[in-house]
Amino acid sequence: MSLDLFTLQGRVAVVTGGNGGIGKGMAMGLASAGADIVIAARNQEKTSQTVKEIEAMGRQALGIQVEVQRAEDVSRMVETTLDRFGRIDILINNAGIVVRKPPEELTEEEWDRVMDINLKGMFLCSKAVYPVMKRQGGGKIINIGSMMSLFGSGVVPVYATSKGGVVQLTKSLAIAWAPQNIQVNAVLPGWIVTDMTSGIRTNAPERYQAISERIPAKRWGIPDDLRGLAIFLASAASDYVTGTAIPIDGGYSVMGN
Ligand SMILES: NC(=O)c1ccc[n+]([C@@H]2O[C@H](COP(=O)([O-])OP(=O)(O)OC[C@H]3O[C@@H](n4cnc5c(N)ncnc54)[C@H](OP(=O)(O)O)[C@@H]3O)[C@@H](O)[C@H]2O)c1
Repeated sequence: MSLDLFTLQGRVAVVTGGNGGIGKGMAMGLASAGADIVIAARNQEKTSQTVKEIEAMGRQALGIQVEVQRAEDVSRMVETTLDRFGRIDILINNAGIVVRKPPEELTEEEWDRVMDINLKGMFLCSKAVYPVMKRQGGGKIINIGSMMSLFGSGVVPVYATSKGGVVQLTKSLAIAWAPQNIQVNAVLPGWIVTDMTSGIRTNAPERYQAISERIPAKRWGIPDDLRGLAIFLASAASDYVTGTAIPIDGGYSVMGN
């Protein structure tokens, strides 16, 4: 097997929420395999920093301020990317937020916000890159789910609902766009140390301890752990893989007790 199967030389990847945490880990992975990267997120300071780090690797990078749940932002993201790079080969739908509240306390606004960013944003971005990928003869879409794509949760019920939807959206897009040679897969991270989860250690030490003990690998993941799977799903190595949802969790989702 040739290592060229995994090269991303000449490819352009758009990573939503790519300025930190899991998105940044995946963006760095794709850049290390040769891709040029567009970082699409809200915080411009974090985005500029990440763009500099990718450029320091010898790749081209561009930051675009985007709210993924706004259709006009998403159109601008695609147009700006095409103006600069002329193509889009890979989309990582990673932008996401969490609201930690039991269902009886959740407001309608919180419900809408989480569903809009985590699920509607994924649909809008995928729909916006579809004509570009179709024209180019194919593409790769990687959607970020969660352990909550598999399990229910009384702690993060709307997050779990959105992440369950990520898997069904992934399967549906995979079926719809397989004839256009667009592979659509989901990645289901376990417990990864990022801004989203860092509060658990300090604010809920007992929960942090219980989670840590339940992970067969006996450690939380770090964003760099996502690099290999990102390269696989973005490269020719996965050309006959579509509609899957792959846990990357140190064994958390197969732990029986
Ligand atoms: N950490 C974990 O253990 C874990 C486990 C499973 C799944 N995940 C998923 O992994 C993804 C990344 O999370 P993370 O843990 O890396 O947390 P994070 O560091 O908070 O990353 C979230 C990213 O999304 C961006 N973002 C949020 N709202 C956005 C919006 N409306 N439009 C565009 N970008 C937006 C943020 O950037 P700006 O603030 O600059 O917009 C940030 O880069 C999320 O989908 C999350 O649900 C995380």
